[in-house]
Amino acid sequence: MRVLSGVQPSGTLHIGNYFGAIRQFVSLQSEQECYYFLADMHALTTVQDADRVRALVRELAAGYLALGLDPERSVIYRQSDLPEIPELFWYLSTVTSMGLLQRCHSFKDKVAQGVVPNHGLFAYPVLMAADILIVRSDLVPVGKDQKQHLEVTRDIVASFHATYGKEVFTLPKPMIQDEVAVVPGIDGQKMSKSYGNTIDIFGPEKPIRKKIMSLVTDSTPVEDPKPTEGSALYQLLKIFAPVDERAWVETAFAEGGVGYGDMKKKLFEYFLATFGEARARYDELVADPAEIERILRAGAEKARETAAPLMDDVRRAVGIR
Ligand code: ADP
Ligand code: TRP
Repeated sequence: MRVLSGVQPSGTLHIGNYFGAIRQFVSLQSEQECYYFLADMHALTTVQDADRVRALVRELAAGYLALGLDPERSVIYRQSDLPEIPELFWYLSTVTSMGLLQRCHSFKDKVAQGVVPNHGLFAYPVLMAADILIVRSDLVPVGKDQKQHLEVTRDIVASFHATYGKEVFTLPKPMIQDEVAVVPGIDGQKMSKSYGNTIDIFGPEKPIRKKIMSLVTDSTPVEDPKPTEGSALYQLLKIFAPVDERAWVETAFAEGGVGYGDMKKKLFEYFLATFGEARARYDELVADPAEIERILRAGAEKARETAAPLMDDVRRAVGIR
């Protein structure tokens, strides 16, 4: 099976990105042939500041590597290093109906939030389909929020095949981890950089601790049992607690006697225990942009080799060759 996934360098990595996506990327490396990329062209649909894009790309690459993506075992590259991707994007665009894209939740949500959409934002799922199809991937590990985009990719494949009467693409499947499908943010909504409710993985400890201490809770007194339903603190503790401490979490909520402040301190301890090593490695990597560049270029070369025969088939199918 060939696995492919990517993350946009459009903000700092947060724990939702890790539990919803990157943790799976890491574990799949030992089982499958994996392609992981940085969706820098996608990021331009929302980040339009060149210095910031450059910094975010470097940080995301350092984050990937620090969290355990291994260039010896996976192909790790930057989307913009493969000119075949925007080329394929165009062929796919010509078989994608406007209606299909108009129905996309992520587009509709952004518009509902008041974002004035540019064409790139509208066409976003088509570029994503190009990312996925270009290496003939079978499996795409993503968070629940990306499920519809995978359906769009599958629809585009069907439409291309029907239009040209040739089966050139592999039909990809989403791979969604149900257990931690949606990581809540500090306000209880889905954790997302666009809601400003994230807990970052990297960067100085102090603001992270502060974020954790500001997790929204109710006013249940210390001695009383605490509701677990709808509690972001409870969900995050369950995600982070090591197996042998999960019972402690259950008891603390069910029986009372532990205040929210102490629970948050515990959560911060678990956070450091989980990410301490990766955080140290990250600091070394961000300080060495030449090494990051070397890794990304080597990855792009391998990815382009995989893309070449597919592109050949596609160009022939549409009549460009
Ligand atoms: P954001 O919502 O902060 O903009 P992205 O859309 O860049 O994050 O997401 C990158 C990856 O992380 C995607 O695969 C996405 O599904 C996953 N992800 C993001 N936020 C969460 C979350 N709160 N819970 C689970 N997975 C998430
Ligand atoms: N849209 C994805 C996200 O926001 C990022 C992405 C771009 C992606 N291209 C992809 C994910 C291809 C999987 C496969 O998380």
